[in-house]
This record gives sequence, structure tokens and C-alpha cells, in this order.
Amino acid sequence: MNNKVKLLNRESSLEFLPNLSNTLGPKIYIKRDDEGGRGGGGNKLRKYERIIADAIHKKADTLIIAGHHQSNAARELVGAACQLGLKSIVVCKTMIPEQNPTFNKNGNALLMQLMNANIITINAEDDFDIEMNKIAASVNKKGNKAYLIPFGGSNLLGSLGYYDCANEIIEQFKNAEGTTPNYVVTPTGSGGTMAGLIAGFSIAKTPTKVIGFSVLYKDKIIENIVTKLANEIIENIKPNVDIATNFELNTKFVGEGYGIPTENGTKAVTMLAELEGLFLCPVYTSKAMAGLVEYIKTNKIKKDETIVFIHTGGMPLVHAYYNQYM
Ligand SMILES: Cc1ncc(COP(=O)(O)O)c(C=O)c1O
Repeated sequence: MNNKVKLLNRESSLEFLPNLSNTLGPKIYIKRDDEGGRGGGGNKLRKYERIIADAIHKKADTLIIAGHHQSNAARELVGAACQLGLKSIVVCKTMIPEQNPTFNKNGNALLMQLMNANIITINAEDDFDIEMNKIAASVNKKGNKAYLIPFGGSNLLGSLGYYDCANEIIEQFKNAEGTTPNYVVTPTGSGGTMAGLIAGFSIAKTPTKVIGFSVLYKDKIIENIVTKLANEIIENIKPNVDIATNFELNTKFVGEGYGIPTENGTKAVTMLAELEGLFLCPVYTSKAMAGLVEYIKTNKIKKDETIVFIHTGGMPLVHAYYNQYM
């Protein structure tokens, strides 16, 4: 379970955001999981370190992932495969309505093209699992060995990457502030990032509350996915520890749906760019930051509390959604 390939060169940095903190009130830090790593970096690399190690252990040479033209997960996987000399296949279907005339060519699509990604397009109504299995069968028939990447990298192995991240935060925040943060805030898609963080803070028995802002699911299903995964991690690392009850998953900031920018999210992107020179993305981090701003404005998070915001990456999406910001 602790077998890893090296996709990250170091811990990601924890940076204080003085201007955002002055503007909003509480002390806000950002965990730079957007920086470093091949394929442009982002939160999936932590997950892929153990998942790809498992693939290699199983003698696989071809990694197959479900995605779309603007998928960070696919772009990061292709980059990791390039680095490690493995093959990759992106099974691609339209999941987000085209936002502008170059939507399917710019941003992540462009970077995947640059890496000469092998993209197999399927119809929007096709089932990912069925199509991925068919493609895996044809890969195996040719004498290669296929490995299917779980959705969003959110299985036990992948989510353990964010158990590691929680421990990094505990150490870094202790060095910076001599204590633990009151809140850790993250966007939540397939759930593995949040699950790993909850497991990490539960096992370390810190009072930190993990707040996830859903960007994909609008209903309770995501809470069940996250809780189940967090429990699975705890079970594997330290059985008999109770999952922390102080976490919260908010589904109110998804907006119209996955990949559709929201007004508050767009404001959050420009705010971070203007105040801190940092770029959030329209699909994930903008919606989590919009949630955080609202929690502070409504006093759900108090001015004397401390926050770590996880920057999960996705900067290429700013280019893909350029029309949002013009
Ligand atoms: C930039 C970014 N943030 C957040 C997420 C969501 O992470 P998770 O799927 O672990 O919930 C993703 C997943 O694709 C992502 O690309």
C-alpha cells in the first residue's frame, strides 16, 4: 500500500495569503498542490503515485483513463505516463457543453495534444466502464497489459495521497503558526481528496474541520462516497479510530452543473488573481473559493479563525474558459 512512484519532487508549499486575509478577515493559507509535477501538475498526481505503482506491480504498461477534452485528471495521467515511459489512453466523451469556439482545442486539450496523447472518443451517451473495458481487452489482445484508472483516482490507493497531504499540512502549519488550522477547504469532485484529508485529520486527532464544496454531485450521494472512502483509509491505517464528525460537504455551490462556471466562482477567480497573483480555475477551485468567501461573509467562519485552502490545480482551464474573463 505504501509503494509509490515518484511524481512529485517535494512537499507542496504552504503559503500565507496576506492580501486575501486582510480583505476577508481570517488568516488564510494556501496549499500549493497546483505546483510542480509533470503534465502541468495538480491534485491527481498525489493519487497517481500509488495507483501507478500498483499498475507497474501488476506488470501493466498501458494506463486507461476516462475523461473529457478539459479533464485535468486525464492531462495529469498522460504527463505521468510520459515521465515513466508508460503508454496511456484517454477515453474521451463530451461532459461539458462547449463554452466557446475553441473549447475542445485549448487548455487541457491543447496540453494533451502536445504530449501526443492517445485519445479515443466515444459518444456522450456511451458508458465509460463498458467502453474502457472493451479498449482494455483490445490492448491485452495485442500483447500489452492494460490498467484501468479508477474514476477521478478516488479509490483507496489514490485517496491515501491526501492522507499524506493532511500530515504535511499538520507539520507545515505547526511550523508556521504553532498550532493546527481551524479549517481545511477543498473542492470535491469524485471525493478522494476530501476523504484522504478527513482520514488524515481524524487519525492525527486534530480538531481541524474539513469543508468540501462539491463541484459535481448536487445530492447526498457524494457524502456517502466520501465517508465510505475515509472510513476505508482509516480501517487500513489505524483501525478503531473514529472518523471525525466535524467535516462538512456543501453541495450548494455547484451551480448549474459540472463544468458550468458560476457568477460567484468567476468573481473568486478574478479576486485571487488581483489580490495574490494566483490563478484558480472555473470548474473546481473557483467554486470552493466562492463557498469559502460566503462562509466568511455570513460569519460561519469567524475572523479570528485560520484556514488552509487546498489549491488542487486546473490552471489550464482558465485558458479553455477564456471568454469568462474578458
Ligand atoms: C483541479 C481539481 N480540483 C479538484 C478536483 C476534485 O478532486 P476529487 O476528485 O478528489 O474530489 C479535481 C478532479 O478532477 C481537479 O482536477
